[in-house]
Amino acid sequence: MSGLVTRRHILRRTAGFTAGSVISFTGLSASATTPNLTPRQPLGPFYPDKLPLDRDNDLLSVNGRTGRAFGQPTDIYGQVRGLDGKPLGGVTVEIWQCDAFGRYLHSRDAGRGRSDKNFQGYGRAVSDNEGLYRFRTIKPVAYPGRTPHIHFLVNGDGIQRFVTQMYVEGEPQNLRDGLLNQVSDPEQRKSLIVPLTPSPELGESALSGRFDITVG
Ligand SMILES: [Fe+2]
Repeated sequence: MSGLVTRRHILRRTAGFTAGSVISFTGLSASATTPNLTPRQPLGPFYPDKLPLDRDNDLLSVNGRTGRAFGQPTDIYGQVRGLDGKPLGGVTVEIWQCDAFGRYLHSRDAGRGRSDKNFQGYGRAVSDNEGLYRFRTIKPVAYPGRTPHIHFLVNGDGIQRFVTQMYVEGEPQNLRDGLLNQVSDPEQRKSLIVPLTPSPELGESALSGRFDITVG
């Protein structure tokens, strides 16, 4: 771990953004270990059928709206790498997840009940030259049949639609989630499950977690 800056340092360096801004990657550290391929996971039925106009990496606010999203603010950041361990810069990372009421940004999920118009529901980031990306979103919540998760789609030179899902450490429903349970190897499974830790530097009740993605 020599040469890496601490998580607290990372967060202090990146804590200064404001609502609606594009979040800076400055200060994120790269990992030195050689990774295994991140397990692929299904795309699922709720990739947005109509992408929102606001597609930045801050999902807590939507351009043109003054309200903030319901839910616990959570920064998700990490590094995209190839199987050789080299960071992949210029790669597009997309995420999508349901809002605090369990609704996706998708016509088939709209109208089923209350939804949060202030939650962007979908976001994009392009990795920097160290392969680093960052999102500000909410802590994912469960919906019927699924443990909390965030969907990821990675595209770039030589990478074609690498799809996976990120899970949250300590969620009791992880043990009985059908898609997570498709990954039986303990190390592979662990690579999809991220501890979210309190990060007051980012705001009251804020959390953060690191999800590195190895594509091949
Ligand atoms: Fe989902």
